[in-house]
Amino acid sequence: MLGGDEGAAVQKAMELLVRYADALGAERFVQTDNVAGVPGSSPQWVKDHFKADGGDYRAVFSRYDLDSDVVVDVPPMKAGFSCHLQGGMDPEHWTEMGMSPQAHANFVADEREVGAHGVQLMKTCTPYLAGNMPRFGEHCAWMESSAVVFCNSVVGARTNTEGRESTSAAMLAKRVPDWGFHQTDFRWGQHLVEVQVPVGDIFEWGMLGYFVGGAVQDAIPVIDGAVTGASVIRHKHFGAAAASSGGVELYHMVGVTPEAPSREAAFGPRKVGERFVYDAAARARTYETLNALGASRDVDFVMLGCPHASLDQIAEIAALLEGRKVSASSALWVFTSRAVKLAAEAAGHARALRDAGALLMTDTCSSISQAVPKGTRVAALDSAKQVHYLPAIMNIEGWYGTTAECVDAACTGRWNGRLP
Ligand code: F3S
Repeated sequence: MLGGDEGAAVQKAMELLVRYADALGAERFVQTDNVAGVPGSSPQWVKDHFKADGGDYRAVFSRYDLDSDVVVDVPPMKAGFSCHLQGGMDPEHWTEMGMSPQAHANFVADEREVGAHGVQLMKTCTPYLAGNMPRFGEHCAWMESSAVVFCNSVVGARTNTEGRESTSAAMLAKRVPDWGFHQTDFRWGQHLVEVQVPVGDIFEWGMLGYFVGGAVQDAIPVIDGAVTGASVIRHKHFGAAAASSGGVELYHMVGVTPEAPSREAAFGPRKVGERFVYDAAARARTYETLNALGASRDVDFVMLGCPHASLDQIAEIAALLEGRKVSASSALWVFTSRAVKLAAEAAGHARALRDAGALLMTDTCSSISQAVPKGTRVAALDSAKQVHYLPAIMNIEGWYGTTAECVDAACTGRWNGRLP
């Protein structure tokens, strides 16, 4: 590949991956057939930046994604499962998001190119809910922190937190450096978190994740204790939160995640590092931290679906909205993947949301697109990750609570959340 036998684009991809491996000190590559990134997608200003090279998809993929000094023809991606993660706008409700017709036209043109290059247009931060569920031990190359931590921890597949460049190169070369989370010795637990209060629903799992990330930062925690009701959506909220307050890319939960049948198995040959306790006081402190940017109880925006909502979460929201309407002084946006939205339409949940005045959107979220309803000052969120980012990104206030509290805030325009 480095010699150019498979074409110029694969050669440039391999050159980038070799530089990347050298920087890491990796001695070899692993093969991957499962890559999740944002290959070649870009807002117009990035294309304008590469105007001298043609200012199009080909120029952006060559000069930006592959860091190539020349523009090359981009062939179809070679990794069998090359999928596109979240993007910058909803394909249907882009005007409500405040996007311009020009930005939308660029989005449509990009999507045509990406699809034509053999990339699955999943457009979600939860590819595992939309058909890309890796297998245990599989080497992957994923970006998006909440997806990476899920892939490593819940599935037991192996990925580092890749970037745009390495994922685009890996889609063409089907290789990533054999380093970090690809190696068994890297994956043993480092610190212990003992959970002493019951943790059962996504609100609690999200708070625990936020506590864990803050405690261990980018180390590998082993969580043991009173965590119950493990499910895909609870792991989704836990991992996203732990990757936000810290940089957790892999966690072990004793008796729950596949590499932690016991505490001993999770730590393997490593000694237990620090020991953190999640008790009633830690839980209360975490709740206060998550709500530190909430002041006014007049809520004008509620965003749900971070990470992107599963079908059962949308069903829950539809049930919570039954017989109610979103308040005229508020807005409710729910984000999911295209695949799940289709299923929600078929099940009638999407209609229930529409009838109540909520928007069911795909592809993106308010943090990624930096889009909230005009005039938003106070948001209510059921995701610890989103409350970590959105108020800071948009300079607004934010409340963290249960899904039910958030839906109630959307319908009343008032925040009545409290720590149960
Ligand atoms: Fe997904 Fe946006 Fe949250 S991309 S993980 S919904 S910050």
